[in-house]
Amino acid sequence: MAERLFIFDTTLRDGEQVPGCQLNTVEKIEVAKALESLGVDVIEAGFPISSPGDFKSVEEISKAVTWPTICALTRGIQKDIDVAFDALQYAKHKRIHTGIGTSDYHIKYKFNSNKEEIMERAVAAVKYAKRYVEDVEFYCEDAGRTDNVYLARIVEAVIKAGATVVNIPDTTGYCLPTEFAEKIRFLMENVNGVHKAIISTHCHNDLGMATANTMAGIMNGARQVEVTINGIGERAGNTAMEEVVMALRSHKELGIETNINTKNICKVSRVVSNLMNMPVQANKAIVGRNAFSHSSGIHQDGVLKNIQTYEIIDPKEVGIDDNSIVLTARSGRAALKYHLQCVGVELTQENLDKVYEGFLKLADSKKYVTDDDLLMLAGKDRVATHRIKLDYMQITSGVGVKPMASIGLNIAGEKFEAVSLGNGPVDAAIKALKHIIQKKMNLQEFLIQAITKGSDDVGKVHMRVEYNGNVYSGFAANTDIVAASVSAYIDAINKFPD
Ligand code: KIV
Ligand code: ZN
Repeated sequence: MAERLFIFDTTLRDGEQVPGCQLNTVEKIEVAKALESLGVDVIEAGFPISSPGDFKSVEEISKAVTWPTICALTRGIQKDIDVAFDALQYAKHKRIHTGIGTSDYHIKYKFNSNKEEIMERAVAAVKYAKRYVEDVEFYCEDAGRTDNVYLARIVEAVIKAGATVVNIPDTTGYCLPTEFAEKIRFLMENVNGVHKAIISTHCHNDLGMATANTMAGIMNGARQVEVTINGIGERAGNTAMEEVVMALRSHKELGIETNINTKNICKVSRVVSNLMNMPVQANKAIVGRNAFSHSSGIHQDGVLKNIQTYEIIDPKEVGIDDNSIVLTARSGRAALKYHLQCVGVELTQENLDKVYEGFLKLADSKKYVTDDDLLMLAGKDRVATHRIKLDYMQITSGVGVKPMASIGLNIAGEKFEAVSLGNGPVDAAIKALKHIIQKKMNLQEFLIQAITKGSDDVGKVHMRVEYNGNVYSGFAANTDIVAASVSAYIDAINKFPD
């Protein structure tokens, strides 16, 4: 019989720490529900002491989600643990995730301490958390660079103090798969009482090894993995859940299974990408646009003869092309609502009716309405609530002329206009926009995804705009790519606090 691997999802904590990926509580609940539908065992919902917003999100997710365990992160500090427990009060299954840095770098530079004192603090944190909940997970931050003998001593001590799960993070993404495999094997062989707890991996992707290291951990005894959807996370990200789950499914000889309903993988990937404004790279394993498309003649020939010549996973297994409900001009509101949910858009009945009107007009002019078209339609609806709206935009550009944009904005009912030249049509439009807005803001990232299926399809634009030390993301979709770019910029500006 296959052994069970627990999936601990940290999209809403480690993933959400990424600048520009911040979600509001309603959006977090949507992601949490999507994770529940996927079958994750644990949802790390936030770091309650870090902000009132994080506290509220943990509380609301605890109410909204039924069966996964809800986990709250803390430092190894009593106040953090008190607050985490408060935030978890409504969770049906609660876990406190506490810990401390264990590498020499952390002990010396972060804590100005020594190994014995850190060990005492670790044990004290677990004992304190145990006063509140049975399920206590302990993380040894920077375990990837912690000496294995000391790591084994601390793991043994926290298990003795009552830790039910011990997390071995490769916080800096430093380890090679052989090194990480050896680390987990060393713990499994040298920690007294190791089987009283579950050993967990938490790998970062700084050297592109997160999935490889996680697999190495599993193959040496780890039975929980900490992962995020699409691998989002600090810097180069965390281990991507979909990669580990599908690696285990493709290698049944490993004898490890998860509770993940793989048919929901693509849907949840899109929900997270859309809500967090974090596009998935086209060649991303499992969920990228090109992950299952064969373009070279030799591959296409092989696939046509027998799909297994070049394909190790049936795309249907991860929910691609599994959408039996196609949207056409004859589709009703229920089908529209279903497809909107698939791309992470929840609408009130009133807004659904409005989007449905736009949908019918579009469906009249197109054979099929795609998810990207829906994002555009829903985006139009979202714009209705914006304080700053684009009234009109006219662009002159071409070969041998200097691009020029004239723009009209409606700011809380007042009309403003500006004209500007630029290096290109988008540059001209953004310069005109800045003449009106007059804030010190900088475009940090500008991503256009062209949809290549037909000339009537939409282009999607993601932008990140820096203002006052914070980064705000904006999204828009439109058949006119310049209009989409300006709308994405305006979407970001609407998120500024003032
Ligand atoms: O990467 C890390 O070490 C972490 C811990 C806080 C679990 O995210
Ligand atoms: Zn981390």
